[in-house]
Amino acid sequence: MKIMVIGGGGREHAIIKKLRENKTVEKIFCLPGNGGIALDAECVPIGSTDIPAIVDFAAKTGIDYAVVAQDDPLILGCVDELNKIGVPCFGPDKKAAIIEGSKVFSKNFMKKYNIPTAEYEVFEDAKSALEYVKACKIPTVVKADGPALGKGALVCMTRDEAIEAVREIMEDKKFGASGDKIVVEEFMTGPEVSVLAFTDGETVIPMVPSTDHKRAHDGDEGLNTGGMGTIAPSPYYTKDAEKAALEKIIYPTVRAMKAEGRPFKGCLYFGLMITPEGPKVVEYNCRFGDPETQVVLPLLKSDLLDIMLATTNGNLKDVPVEFSDGAACCVILASSGYPEKYEKGFEITIPDELSDKVYVAGAKKENGRLVTSGGRVLGVVGTGHDLPEAVKTAYSYAERVSFENAYYRKDIGKKALEALKEG
Ligand code: AMP
Ligand code: GLY
Repeated sequence: MKIMVIGGGGREHAIIKKLRENKTVEKIFCLPGNGGIALDAECVPIGSTDIPAIVDFAAKTGIDYAVVAQDDPLILGCVDELNKIGVPCFGPDKKAAIIEGSKVFSKNFMKKYNIPTAEYEVFEDAKSALEYVKACKIPTVVKADGPALGKGALVCMTRDEAIEAVREIMEDKKFGASGDKIVVEEFMTGPEVSVLAFTDGETVIPMVPSTDHKRAHDGDEGLNTGGMGTIAPSPYYTKDAEKAALEKIIYPTVRAMKAEGRPFKGCLYFGLMITPEGPKVVEYNCRFGDPETQVVLPLLKSDLLDIMLATTNGNLKDVPVEFSDGAACCVILASSGYPEKYEKGFEITIPDELSDKVYVAGAKKENGRLVTSGGRVLGVVGTGHDLPEAVKTAYSYAERVSFENAYYRKDIGKKALEALKEG
């Protein structure tokens, strides 16, 4: 089979490494990929949102199956366009991808189907939004309706911050048309757990739960980032939390999407907060998480391509999906200064024996050398029998991968391990 993966980060690298385990895979293309992914797939310089060029490439190359891994192309309808020329895809169509594409849709959807989430109000004009935040309970959270590169949710600890957030999104149009509408929601507390689930629209198979570390610095200090590290399984997802999440959130969501005439096929991401009243949805994503995928897929014992094809073909219930009992930890090596200003162009050294443990996100090939080209440069993943072992292994690898200017958090998994000890 000739496969095409759309995207170009650490998540796509993890997906590609796993797909390569399937013997029927002849060739994998990645659009656009990156310098590190180029070691495992043929990278093609087509942007992940250039849908006409993606469709054209698939037709000319005789692609048998496409894995649309990134949110933007899914929300724009990449799957619909590829299906029109007869290319089957992993990932939801445009109608189903709206679960991530519009916060207003997802909040109204959860309300309609009684799926636990933060209380909220929707606003379509700045004046009424400002009036509301001048009197609402603080802290509060202001969210742009549409996609905003993961930066569209502003947690406001003071009233001034909330007023500023509404102004930035609705008046200054910081996220363009994505901020034409906003959601202002109740501030929730509790640890966060990401549950990714395979689904063919009917059958749902949750993967190992994981926890991301979004802040830039140790102790959850500093700015929000695209994710500085992950652990799986997440100790916060206790048996009770799992039971409640499955019964009140995960199964009802997939059933309700079908009932809405928007059956979801692919990987549905449940961003949960384990609040004192139980798990509630923080957000849905219509794709694998990044860097959650980097810890979840190394624990998958079954064949990824077989599972993906089953989500497309609607026979997920017939395919084995098994995870190991072990644990995994991903530590992201970033460029010093990320998520603000940072320098690029430094050579990356990865010892040969670690090449399978490294998932590259922001690097390019330059004169035969791999050099940094982004803020989050790569993730190193350690696995083990349990979380302490996985964390220790990941850090021992992190010390051996190097580039000038590298920065990583030293406490990935620390809080969760403490919670585990406390029981
Ligand atoms: P989102 O883009 O919706 O995932 O939000 C980004 C981050 O903001 C989440 O991972 C949470 O840490 C935080 N967040 C979002 N919504 C809420 C909420 N209602 N209460 C508390 N924190 C939130
Ligand atoms: N790790 C957060 C996300 O993938 O959206």
